Amino acid sequence: MKVFQTSHSLVEYLSDEIRPFGMVPTMGTLHPGHLSLIERAVKENQTVLISIFINPTQFDNKMDLNSYPINIDEDLRIIKKISKNVLVYVPKVDDIYGRKVESKSFELGGLDEVMEGEKRPGHFQGVVTVIAHFLKTFYPDNAYFGEKDFQQLLIIDHITRSMKIKTRIIGCPIIRESNGLAMSSRNSLLNSNERKLASKLFETLQFAKSNAKKMTYRTLKNMVGGFFENHNELTLDYFRIADPKTLKEIHLERPVDQGHGFIAAYLGKIRLIDNLDMS
Ligand code: PAJ
Repeated sequence: MKVFQTSHSLVEYLSDEIRPFGMVPTMGTLHPGHLSLIERAVKENQTVLISIFINPTQFDNKMDLNSYPINIDEDLRIIKKISKNVLVYVPKVDDIYGRKVESKSFELGGLDEVMEGEKRPGHFQGVVTVIAHFLKTFYPDNAYFGEKDFQQLLIIDHITRSMKIKTRIIGCPIIRESNGLAMSSRNSLLNSNERKLASKLFETLQFAKSNAKKMTYRTLKNMVGGFFENHNELTLDYFRIADPKTLKEIHLERPVDQGHGFIAAYLGKIRLIDNLDMS
């Protein structure tokens, strides 16, 4: 395992001999969800680059940024166990942004106007700023992203095509806890009771899926709204069935199995998201 703190030293190290090379961008506090991406990248590439960088421009909320967990030493220990043949990039903010810590402006095809984009203004411009920077600095052959952040994956795929970047964007399935809760670095901020409550997001999506042929989207939406009204600790932010390519909401009178389900909720101050294919 080789650790780099600057893109300059990393670019100097990279050569055609290390290809095909795969990249797994992360914000650290690694869990089995991240590891599934890293393991797949290790299988499919000669060299794997893992970045650990808490990207400030994608946080629309300072409190969320300040409370985001950091565990670099533990992360490096975990990575080393998976494979010794990996490169880890752990930059400081100025290595990526210089003095101007702000997002660039990208055309995101309207994919950023709904759900996470609508609820977290500027979030996806921040994500794309850092990802475009990585792809255009290191030119990985493959880059791995989780379907846990389905909208993020779609937007990164869109921007890669529109900027004619040659990296193949590879989506990987969601890894879950035994109670269904999608694994997330933010889960480390939850106590055991909160983890139990948090599994309601997946339960809701599963309920939707198991009734997908029986109900219209309108009926289901009303039921889900009612379900969350009975849970004081969990506040529903949105529940939406949308086309998995355009993210356009399906018609309210349509059966649910024609779309992909998305949910976001607050557990106290912690925001959780999940999604599931309804077909
Ligand atoms: P982070 O939340 O650390 O996630 C890094 C990658 O791991 C993302 O592609 C995410 O979708 C994936 N991932 C997280 N939890 C997962 C799970 N339970 N199952 C499968 N994959 C999972 O997403 C980010 O960081 C950032 O926005 C980033 C892309 C690094 C840009 O800063």
